[in-house]
Amino acid sequence: MHMPVLHKEHFTGRDFICLQDFTPDEILYMLKVAKELKEEKKGGTPHPILQGKSLAMIFTKSSTRTRVAFEAGMLQLGGHALFLSNRDIQIGRGEPIKDTARVLSRMVDGIMIRTHSHQDVIELAKYADIPVINGLSDFLHPTQVLADLLTIQEHKHCLEGLKLTYIGDGNNMAHSLMFAGKMGMHVVIATPAGYKPDAQVVAQAQAQAKQYGGLVEWVEDPLAAAEGADVLYTDVWASMGQEEEAAIRMKAFQSYRIDRETMERAQANAIVMHCLPAHRGEEITEEVLEGPQSVVFDEAENRLHAHKAIMALLI
Ligand code: CP
Ligand code: NVA
Repeated sequence: MHMPVLHKEHFTGRDFICLQDFTPDEILYMLKVAKELKEEKKGGTPHPILQGKSLAMIFTKSSTRTRVAFEAGMLQLGGHALFLSNRDIQIGRGEPIKDTARVLSRMVDGIMIRTHSHQDVIELAKYADIPVINGLSDFLHPTQVLADLLTIQEHKHCLEGLKLTYIGDGNNMAHSLMFAGKMGMHVVIATPAGYKPDAQVVAQAQAQAKQYGGLVEWVEDPLAAAEGADVLYTDVWASMGQEEEAAIRMKAFQSYRIDRETMERAQANAIVMHCLPAHRGEEITEEVLEGPQSVVFDEAENRLHAHKAIMALLI
């Protein structure tokens, strides 16, 4: 595999808001650092790269994996993470994002935010003079996809030339996964016509993919999409904040699940991925989620290693 020659200084001080902002070489380099940190951890080698550094973590939505990966990861890097729920900090009582950004910039070394509005993430980054990491917005989930690429590399030993089929909602996961196209992958997004990914994101992902020999497509038929896939991916039908639409979505997405029939269309050695949490019996069957081709817990573990790489490089 082509291995880019880059240095940590290349990343220091940058934000991690969307994969659009990173070249394939930069993404490969981040994956290489994640792999090194993973091996060091497994070998018991300490790596206190961020000793004395702090990460503020703002959460206005629930989280298991993202919170634990950043918090435990920061500790393993020798630093400290602060969990700031909107129920506790003044953002929840209306303090502007731009004020929070400037206050935190004077006290800590990086900010991770998980929130609804993507504009809030951008606003935070605009006013902060320390790195801002997008830990999920309604629009994008880029830290998840970095961990997903690491997982695919581990199981398939490459990225280029692989077909990844995503079946489900045209949501934050679909948007971020489309940027795997610029790693030379063929990304197919299958959603109902009324739940397509954002047209501008599709166009941008397609343009970036084309530049690097990849391909990004939207199709309506989930079974046709699964044909020959190396990676099958799905996510919940109703994301956080869409709870009131759950009943309508339940009807609209009935055929957009990964089940035995989907598996039969994919490559015999295809891997199955899900960002989790999963709704068994909805977007994925219990049999597939717990089956031998599922790599969902490797994927979840890789959040830790990928997020450590992000922090180690940016901060
Ligand atoms: N996949 C993911 O982001 O998980 P959490 O919501 O638990 O952080
Ligand atoms: N699309 C999901 C992802 C959860 C990790 C959500 O936004 O709720």
